[in-house]
Amino acid sequence: MPLLRLDNVTRNFGGLAAVKDVSFEAKSGQIVGLIGPNGSGKTTCFNLISGLYAPSSGKILFNDAQISGLPQHRIAAKGVARTFQISSYFPALTALENVVTAHHTQLKSGLFAGILRLNKTVMEEAAAVERSHELLQFVGLEHRHGMRADALASAEQRRLMVAMALATRPQLLLLDEPGAGMTKEEQVRLTELIFKVRDVGVTIVLVEHHMRLIMGICDNVVVLTEGKKIAEGTPAEIQATEAVIEAYLGRRAAHA
Ligand SMILES: Nc1ncnc2c1ncn2[C@@H]1O[C@H](COP(=O)(O)OP(=O)(O)OP(=O)(O)O)[C@@H](O)[C@H]1O
Ligand SMILES: [Mg+2]
Repeated sequence: MPLLRLDNVTRNFGGLAAVKDVSFEAKSGQIVGLIGPNGSGKTTCFNLISGLYAPSSGKILFNDAQISGLPQHRIAAKGVARTFQISSYFPALTALENVVTAHHTQLKSGLFAGILRLNKTVMEEAAAVERSHELLQFVGLEHRHGMRADALASAEQRRLMVAMALATRPQLLLLDEPGAGMTKEEQVRLTELIFKVRDVGVTIVLVEHHMRLIMGICDNVVVLTEGKKIAEGTPAEIQATEAVIEAYLGRRAAHA
């Protein structure tokens, strides 16, 4: 049974099908790549999986239960986390405060529980701070814990967003261009981090334009163009697929 399955998923925006009849799956423990040119529907797939949008048709299953149509917080509570293509942290908060804040989305104490059982809330706060330090350590940012998020280098901000996503203890992590703007060296470190996340039991779907990153770490790659899946396979299979070379990798790749 796959951890995640998209079943003929379509999402229309007015007359445009941003995602059209797309099916793919991610098995537990896999790193699945989702690639395609700009505007091919990659982020929309993430928006559909995480519940920002509901599909116009088709189904999304997580752990064999349908999640499509559920609100975002319910999907997050089931174990799906994501990072965003755009910066998504509080710039004026420190790295640590950002990760602690990310925890609150999953803390059990709701508003009323918080008022009635203040002690429990305080306990959870302490636990969240401790775990946030561990998460910063995990992504290699512990030495920056007191620095404002907007003062971090851009590659560090990307790592911070990974730590924030991990705060909810996900089973599935959707990474939307985590390597954007990174140098080759920073990409190598990111690759190590992604493997590390996988090795603690988190399944990953990765959207990236850096082909070296995708081909180096993915078990399986899904290729979209204009909202449609045009190919799927191992990195070696994808690189040898004529339709992918034509439609996406471009002529230069064919001669590479
Ligand atoms: N909320 C929306 N309303 C209208 N159109 C949208 C919306 N979200 C996405 N689209 C359109 O759907 C198509 C796919 O967009 P999407 O952001 O999923 O592409 P992408 O593959 O992530 O591209 P990129 O590589 O540039 O990030 C685009 O034509 C986009 O303009
Ligand atoms: Mg996108």
